[in-house]
Amino acid sequence: RRILSLLKDNTSSCLILRFLRSSLAVGKDIDYYSKFSPSPLSMKQFLDFGSENACEKTSFAFLRQELPVRLANIMKEINLLPDNLLRTPSVRLVQSWYMQSFQEILEFKDKNADDEKVTYDFTDAVIKIRNRHNDVIPTMAQGVVEYKETYGTDPVVSQNVQYFLDRFYMSRISIRMLLNQHTLLFGGKVKVNPAHPKQIGSIDPHCRVTEVIRDAYENARGLCDRYYMNSPELVLEEFNVKENENPVGVVYVPSHLYHMVFELFKNAMRATMELYGDAMEYPAIHAQVALGTEDLTVKVSDRGGGVPLRKIDRLFTYTYSTAPRPSIDGSRAAPLAGYGYGLPISRLYARYFQGDLKLYSLEGYGTDAVIYIRALSTESIERLPVYNKSVWKHYKTFHEADDWCVPSKEPKDMTTFRSF
Ligand SMILES: Nc1ncnc2c1ncn2[C@@H]1O[C@H](COP(=O)(O)OP(=O)(O)O)[C@@H](O)[C@H]1O
Ligand SMILES: [Mg+2]
Repeated sequence: RRILSLLKDNTSSCLILRFLRSSLAVGKDIDYYSKFSPSPLSMKQFLDFGSENACEKTSFAFLRQELPVRLANIMKEINLLPDNLLRTPSVRLVQSWYMQSFQEILEFKDKNADDEKVTYDFTDAVIKIRNRHNDVIPTMAQGVVEYKETYGTDPVVSQNVQYFLDRFYMSRISIRMLLNQHTLLFGGKVKVNPAHPKQIGSIDPHCRVTEVIRDAYENARGLCDRYYMNSPELVLEEFNVKENENPVGVVYVPSHLYHMVFELFKNAMRATMELYGDAMEYPAIHAQVALGTEDLTVKVSDRGGGVPLRKIDRLFTYTYSTAPRPSIDGSRAAPLAGYGYGLPISRLYARYFQGDLKLYSLEGYGTDAVIYIRALSTESIERLPVYNKSVWKHYKTFHEADDWCVPSKEPKDMTTFRSF
């Protein structure tokens, strides 16, 4: 209050006051919306939004409530990060994007859903928001790198950052899914996407899994050829338990599946090429697709030498990579590896619709990477982080000592024990 009274006469103080008042009001709105839990949608509900009788109005009414809820939930969680991480310019930038988008959606809170101009403007706002958030992943990653470089790494903070990034990026995947569905369905003049006429927005009700796999393999191979002048072949098999003769299909987001297998292929190719060096022949990469009653499973197997069990968990931590960091001059083509975001982000895509991604390795031989997807669209339901007391506790509680013995390096000298 004293600072404000000092500023009172100054003209710029007017601006500062207005800014403070508006950020106070936004803070209240964030508090309000963060008290709601996000509503996870099933694949079926996503399809219904895009079906014949659904309209822009329904989607608008849902999103103007749900988007602020999802944004507010994760914005509250960002605030639980260590102060020094919050102070990095990159994290501040990300926060300002979230703040801006949150406010833009709230503008529509009391507007008339029957007014076409309103729904039209809303769709426009949604497109603007989607573009604003394009670079959230690299920007947040940059913040973490800056923080670790300045303040070093302490295991508790690293664990919290990993926990946070998984939830933050998952929230982003889900928000983008909502934004994309809305713009793909209502953003253009025609509802049908000419490139993918059978898709409902970004969802393919009959996603041909092997087609996506081949596509991802070819593109990964292009990168591999460029770096190593050669690449391993692909052997692809599929098993459909339900209908033996038919190719495996599933209701899914092809771009998500593509993202995952593309990352797995790049990793498998790099491991193979690094192990076989200058040899002219390389063991093929095997991909198997199986459709059961519950799971659709995709396994990508390489013979690139594998990873010891002790290190497997580490591969899923953000920024962990054994590849040299790619140059960021923008002029070079996409790198084959090096950011360390391939596996953790792919696992989030798998988990987003209640699946998973796991790595099984035979050190000295090769690695199997397995993607699990729910075979039934009724089981494919968004998995969303929620902000509540236990989240708060996760960040704030003191981590106590391990409840398992730490093995000492030297075996105990048993000769000092007397036998009875
Ligand atoms: N199939 C594999 N075989 C051996 N090592 C692997 C395999 N997949 C991943 N890794 C290891 O995991 C690390 C992290 O992988 P990833 O998250 O995709 O990041 P990046 O590929 O950018 O390094 C890689 O740098 C590599 O050391
Ligand atoms: Mg990779």
